[in-house]
Amino acid sequence: MKLLHLDSSALGPNSVTRELSAAIVAQWTAAPEGVRVEYRDLDASPLPHLTGASLAKADPGEAADAERTLQQFLDADVVVIGAPMYNFSIPSTLKAWIDRVAVAGRTFRYTDSGPEGLAGGKKVIIASGRGGVHSGAPTDFQEPYLRQVFAFLGIDDVEFVRAEGVAYSAQHRSEAIAGAKATIPQPSRLRAAA
Ligand SMILES: Cc1cc2nc3c(=O)[nH]c(=O)nc-3n(C[C@H](O)[C@H](O)[C@H](O)COP(=O)(O)O)c2cc1C
Repeated sequence: MKLLHLDSSALGPNSVTRELSAAIVAQWTAAPEGVRVEYRDLDASPLPHLTGASLAKADPGEAADAERTLQQFLDADVVVIGAPMYNFSIPSTLKAWIDRVAVAGRTFRYTDSGPEGLAGGKKVIIASGRGGVHSGAPTDFQEPYLRQVFAFLGIDDVEFVRAEGVAYSAQHRSEAIAGAKATIPQPSRLRAAA
């Protein structure tokens, strides 16, 4: 089983989502089946914003990184993403990663009857952190956006491990993190290691 672990928080060791994504990965790698983990810190090693030059593959180094990123996503059985809410949405570093994995002909295509996702069969677990409380509110452009992106790519098995209201007080923060950790999905549906 291959697990791709991504973080995108800019808050380093103070990050809520880094703590949660690490806890998810620890739980999933403790499973008896073999789990191979690949990790990318999108804050420390960001992908460049997608530009016309990117699409033209003008920079061979950038094009190679983009292809590695796409293949790493395609190869993963489980994707764990640390995804904080920044300005009601996601960090631009995570958006830059999405721009490299949402690729026509590779992870989705358009047909006579509409779009079709080509990256199905994976599980995505998102460690979500929010300073305020946004669940079910019209201010949430983070979790519904991520759910839509992965659904478009054919992935409906998306779960959120959520700590919100973390900016209200230190107590809110520690209770929200503990509550989120209690909801980490069990590694029950692993495919055999390739
Ligand atoms: C640049 C930035 C923008 C943020 N924007 C929002 C926001 O729009 N809504 C909100 O509820 N919290 C916001 N927050 C608070 C974060 O969502 C909160 O600190 C969360 O824990 C971030 O996850 P992290 O600790 O892993 O970075 C923002 C924080 C930062 C640093």
